[in-house]
Amino acid sequence: MKQTQWWKKAVVYQIYPRSFNDSNGDGIGDIPGITEKLDYLENLGIDVIWLSPVYASPNDDNGYDISDYRAINPEFGTMADFDEMLAQAHARGIKIVMDLVVNHSSDEHEWFIQSRKDRTNPYRDFYFWRDGKNGKPPNNWGSVFSGPAWEFDETTCQYYLHLFTRKQPDLNWENSRVRGEVYDMMRWWLDKGVDGFRMDVISAISKVEGLPDGPIEEGDLYGNFVPYAFNGPRMHEFIREMNREVLSGYDIMTVGETPGVGVEEAKKFANADMSELSMIFQFEHVKLIDENGIKWGDKKICVRELKRVMAKWQNGLEGKAWNSLYWENHDQPRSVSRFGGEGRYWEKSAKTLAVCLHMMQGTPYIYQGQEIGMTNTIFESVRDYRDVEQINAFREYTEELGVSEEDMMRWIAKEGRDNARTPMQWSGAHAAGFTDGEPWIKTNPNYKQINAEKQAGDPDSIFSAYQAMIRLRKKFDVVTDGKFTLLDPDSDKNFSYTRETASEKLLVICSFSEKPITFAVPDDMIDSKILYCNYSPAPSATKELALRPWESVIFYKKRVFTDK
Ligand code: GLC
Ligand code: CA
Repeated sequence: MKQTQWWKKAVVYQIYPRSFNDSNGDGIGDIPGITEKLDYLENLGIDVIWLSPVYASPNDDNGYDISDYRAINPEFGTMADFDEMLAQAHARGIKIVMDLVVNHSSDEHEWFIQSRKDRTNPYRDFYFWRDGKNGKPPNNWGSVFSGPAWEFDETTCQYYLHLFTRKQPDLNWENSRVRGEVYDMMRWWLDKGVDGFRMDVISAISKVEGLPDGPIEEGDLYGNFVPYAFNGPRMHEFIREMNREVLSGYDIMTVGETPGVGVEEAKKFANADMSELSMIFQFEHVKLIDENGIKWGDKKICVRELKRVMAKWQNGLEGKAWNSLYWENHDQPRSVSRFGGEGRYWEKSAKTLAVCLHMMQGTPYIYQGQEIGMTNTIFESVRDYRDVEQINAFREYTEELGVSEEDMMRWIAKEGRDNARTPMQWSGAHAAGFTDGEPWIKTNPNYKQINAEKQAGDPDSIFSAYQAMIRLRKKFDVVTDGKFTLLDPDSDKNFSYTRETASEKLLVICSFSEKPITFAVPDDMIDSKILYCNYSPAPSATKELALRPWESVIFYKKRVFTDK
């Protein structure tokens, strides 16, 4: 199969189905609800939908715990609904990429039901079963979602490993039968016509033999599994095998979710030789907010650090591998709240974040609602939480680690995953037009001001800014191909860079400041043409540019020697 790398020119839109659009009033977004909104997405201009899991699942982690990889969760509709959505999307030139969650399954998956029955069951070795040590788990690892990473099972008096919740047992990729089953299932979806996969925590599929104890920091309850479970010794070997067995047979897009992966590993994962995946999601920029690897806290983003990390990835992969570009997804808070300004400069900063990200090299991802500048929400009560991570962390921090409820509520409002999972704000109607019934999670109260209906037809809206960025990507090859150079690396007020090829050059200037600032336009870009500005009137490219709060400007020049 000829692989055309079409995804280099594509813009992806992520749908979290539960919160996107409810077609039947049960308060849960569903597949027919997505089909209803394909015209909206076509109008936005995106090329690909990444669909978070829609498979059968007991929903311990909202579908990231799959009990049948070839069935649709009835809450979301039927396989016929899925086929209809896929056909309708394809008819509009929109591709669909599925979530592939195979580091773990649900404990309600048939493989695990078999596996836990007895120590000699043919599926026993599909998971990690170990004896305890002196009445304690086999090692000291803690789970991502609080508590130990091991669960004792009385049926056979052994523990099983779960890096995530106890209902998400880790699959044992050392077992070639596990890999064979996964590859079969992937081919089944690809043969149905889906256009690729986003691979959930794929950097965790190879664990270090012997599963050694992880390092423990002072004050921690558990050891850190990262050195032994991420970037493991056989990770690339497994991905290369998957590539040979499955991926290379189709002209598809693949993106690995790879926490813990740095530039050097990424060059292997997303190598231009196409031996592994199309691209990966790196985590460094969204983890800048962490303190000692912990996401709950008051730390703020430092613009200079953000620039350093983004530039490192732009330059590190240049000519060797391909970047993905994202500010948001279903696990991250809203970008305008985290990186931008929610108050007076909400609109300007949301547009500037769009400009800053979309003019870089890589494939951009827009998370549902980002295109209208949806913001974080305030959780009045713990009872408003739905996310298992937030619920468990709240309990662990307030009951076992001595953190006050007040601090924890504030940290969760700032960093919690439910910020991204409130219903998509379609209109000012009941429940933001998401459902006729009661939504499964509270709607962000600002939906009357911030909604798609208000913005879709307004040429000055955030939505229109996203449309404009998508159009620019399509029109100018330099956005795809140009070499990235960060300007003014030490400034924490502007995030600016150039992109250039032999024949074109872009200058992208983004103020990350609420105050007016000035910017020195490089000599060769003075008098260049303006492609976009989030203020009007737009400035011209003079030597000393006065930038208004959160102003963003894109200048463009054909390079002299090719100018006809
Ligand atoms: C990934 C998903 C996240 C999920 C976790 C476990 O990080 O994006 O939502 O909770 O994996 O599957
Ligand atoms: Ca529904």
